[in-house]
Amino acid sequence: MINALRGTKDILPDEISLWQRIEAIGRDIFNIYGYKEIRTPIIEEASLFIRSIGDATDIVQKEMYVFSDRGNRIIALRPEATASIARAYIENSLFQAGGIAKLFYIGPMFRSERPQQGRQRQFYQIGVEAIGSDNPFIDAEVIALSARFLERLGVKKFHVKLNSLGCQKDKIRVMEKHKESFRPYLEKLCETCKNRFDKNVLRIFDCKEDSCKSIAQNVEAESALCSDCAGHFEKVKVGLNAIGIEYTVDNKIVRGLDYYTRTVFEITQESLGAKDAICAGGRYNNLVKELGGKDTPAIGFAFGMERLTLALDKAREVKIVRCKVNTFVAVTGDALYNEAFKLLDSLRMAGISSEIDYDTKSLKAQMRKAEKLGAKFVVILGEEEFKNKKVVIRDMENSSQKEVVLEDIIKEYSLILSTP
Ligand code: HAM
Repeated sequence: MINALRGTKDILPDEISLWQRIEAIGRDIFNIYGYKEIRTPIIEEASLFIRSIGDATDIVQKEMYVFSDRGNRIIALRPEATASIARAYIENSLFQAGGIAKLFYIGPMFRSERPQQGRQRQFYQIGVEAIGSDNPFIDAEVIALSARFLERLGVKKFHVKLNSLGCQKDKIRVMEKHKESFRPYLEKLCETCKNRFDKNVLRIFDCKEDSCKSIAQNVEAESALCSDCAGHFEKVKVGLNAIGIEYTVDNKIVRGLDYYTRTVFEITQESLGAKDAICAGGRYNNLVKELGGKDTPAIGFAFGMERLTLALDKAREVKIVRCKVNTFVAVTGDALYNEAFKLLDSLRMAGISSEIDYDTKSLKAQMRKAEKLGAKFVVILGEEEFKNKKVVIRDMENSSQKEVVLEDIIKEYSLILSTP
């Protein structure tokens, strides 16, 4: 009798409808936020992950499935998808389309971890990557998307934890501070962590040994951001506050992969306990460049599908709000950007697929972009109209436009959409 390998599972017909529902809601909400699907190979050159994730990480040191193929190439089963997508972005010149490449993926990943509830050796991730902008509002968008996805699924009692690791220089400073905090406990750390202390002190926070975990819990984690990175982090929070996404700032969120810079976040959920994240992500502004591409900032997240199925309130019937229409939110001037971001969020919450320009160019350039995206409507936030709490809806098909009260915009949409 041959059984499934330890840490792998068959997903049987009885369970599959739950998986399909999660995937369908994921595809729908990603579409509303403008993310398109990408599928990359399950096998890659092992060096892709060693360079991206970092050779001092648990994933690379202990968990990656690596083998040499018949041509003696060193191959890895992907332990995650971000590095593969950064590679695909460069290799297929996805930057040529201009703007931000917004991508999502669903698929199996492989890590040789000790199996337990919600932790497997073959597990599935559903995630997004937004490549090509350092605008803090895109951080807010990505984090909001993860929270809205959970809301749509009917997952309750989740908690978003947020931090900023800063730029490369800040990270070095942060690591020095952490080294000073861990130094008094150096002798009490496990052998691996003693090594991590010199090689990459942040990795001590990932240690699964009880003694190291309790030391890590007790050390002070001071933030050491330069003014640029501190300003960026403040704006991420402003964006999240504007659309009512709840979070707490936790300086100990350092993430288990080395490519992160600036914003990092994790989501925990009550039924999984505080230690296992249901979702995790962050910025990786240097990765594309390190893999041979141009200097390209990026951010993304991944959910563990098995953990999502565990967290899902199975009794609740989840309705899929079908994506309705393409709208572009255009804004005149930086001062109204926050309002435009709020409007964008409410349109998306109503199931209306909507986009904004994160480069905040001229109105003319935004209209061109709307056309390029095939938007059916453009909602324009102009300074004059906004003083009277009004916006303009422009129908791109017949070039007509009308002024509507901002508060009534969703109602207005229902009207437009119900008119044959
Ligand atoms: P990660 O924290 O390594 O990040 O994994 C993301 C999520 O995948 C975890 O929060 C968890 O839900 C799930 N997961 C990880 N390992 C396992 C496992 N052995 N069994 C079951 N579920 C697991 C990443 O992978 C990054 N690529 C996320 C990202 C995307 N960052 C930027 N873009």
